[in-house]
Amino acid sequence: MTTTIAPTSSDTLRPNDLVCRLCKTPTPAAPVAICEHCLGPLDPAPNPDRVLPSRAVIESRAQSLWRYLEWLPFEGKPVHSLDTGFTPLVEAPRLAKRLGVAKCWVKNDAVSHPTLSFKDRVVATAINAAHAFGLDTIGCASTGNLANAVAAHAARAGLKAWIFIPADLEQGKVIGTQVYGPNLVRITGTYDDVNRLCAQIADHYGWGIVNVNLRGYYGEGSKTMAFEIAEQLGWRLPTAVVAPMAGGSLVTKLRKGFREFTEAELVQGTAPRIYGTQALGCAPIVNLVERDLDAIEPVVPNTIARSIAIGNPADGMFAKRAIVETGGSAAGVAEEAIVDGIRTLAEEVGIFTETAGGVTVAGALKLAQQGRFRADDEVVLCITGQGLKTVEAVIDPSLRPLPEAPVIAPRLREVKALVASMESRT
Ligand SMILES: Cc1ncc(COP(=O)(O)O)c(C=O)c1O
Ligand SMILES: [Zn+2]
Repeated sequence: MTTTIAPTSSDTLRPNDLVCRLCKTPTPAAPVAICEHCLGPLDPAPNPDRVLPSRAVIESRAQSLWRYLEWLPFEGKPVHSLDTGFTPLVEAPRLAKRLGVAKCWVKNDAVSHPTLSFKDRVVATAINAAHAFGLDTIGCASTGNLANAVAAHAARAGLKAWIFIPADLEQGKVIGTQVYGPNLVRITGTYDDVNRLCAQIADHYGWGIVNVNLRGYYGEGSKTMAFEIAEQLGWRLPTAVVAPMAGGSLVTKLRKGFREFTEAELVQGTAPRIYGTQALGCAPIVNLVERDLDAIEPVVPNTIARSIAIGNPADGMFAKRAIVETGGSAAGVAEEAIVDGIRTLAEEVGIFTETAGGVTVAGALKLAQQGRFRADDEVVLCITGQGLKTVEAVIDPSLRPLPEAPVIAPRLREVKALVASMESRT
């Protein structure tokens, strides 16, 4: 039986109406994400008459992503996930040196609240849309991080959650979802199989599948990463930004966020060049950019970077446009380079990231080798997830595993022998 949920609006929160990104046809606010005329994606349309806040007003607000409310897809007050966002922007001078650029910062969503990835941002906006539409169940198709975020945000909002993931995800991603008590279902197949199934599930049950029928409201949450970078740099834009790509939404929304702050005359600087990175074992958007294709050629993923292993990315063409039109480029990296990237960020900046972050760091180093950066560049690396969720990557014996730590008895004599042997090696 197909259930149709009639949108109901809450007194305090109204989602913006939608407009097709391609044919510009407007659609009233609803849990739908595809234009019925041309099948293009639907984006929330901001109220053009809204009053935009000044820098000072934004700075006086609580340190969460809601301080940018006027650029998020609602009228009125959000009710859930009020404390997500405003992660640290960490200066990384040793990394800047390795990249041959003037300055480098890490936008550290490895410590995002509450589930340690940038997916907290997109779930924060999607769950408020679900609330405003009167939905009591949310869900997702996920490569892991989104599963963690939907489970946690639904748990504290008191909503039911149905979460669908590929059966073979890392233990940290599975347990980091299950612990919140959602309905977690492991599917035999790739993320792309899971995603197709979720489109049918959204139609059949009318649940709010955050990255399917709530996708327009979900995607806008990613812009807050751009807003925070600009504010944390002192209301300035960097000259280049490097980010990992899966479905391709994040890089598209970073560009949109920077553009919206420029249009609001809040920031100095020109539009940053956007660089997208993927693992070579799943690089459909890198192929699109490097070979200047007109459509995604889907691939079957084979990489340790499971969180960004999407073979048929929904926003691939838009990601290509964001990269090419800003003067950026794309880089694919090998499996060993991903582990090296994780270890480099840990050793040079003191941040332990997951495989997607390894892809970002390795991608940035590859872009530097290709001569894509200038000596006066100010580069931000978007580190989108936490290393403790993918420890498998840094102990994999076929890559560059961490050495085993020595085990000794609790005696000073043994410590002295160990220190002497270590010192003789250096
Ligand atoms: C850690 C991490 N980084 C980046 C991405 C890429 O996001 P997008 O699908 O918006 O391209 C994902 C997506 O799952 C992710 O989990
Ligand atoms: Zn359309």
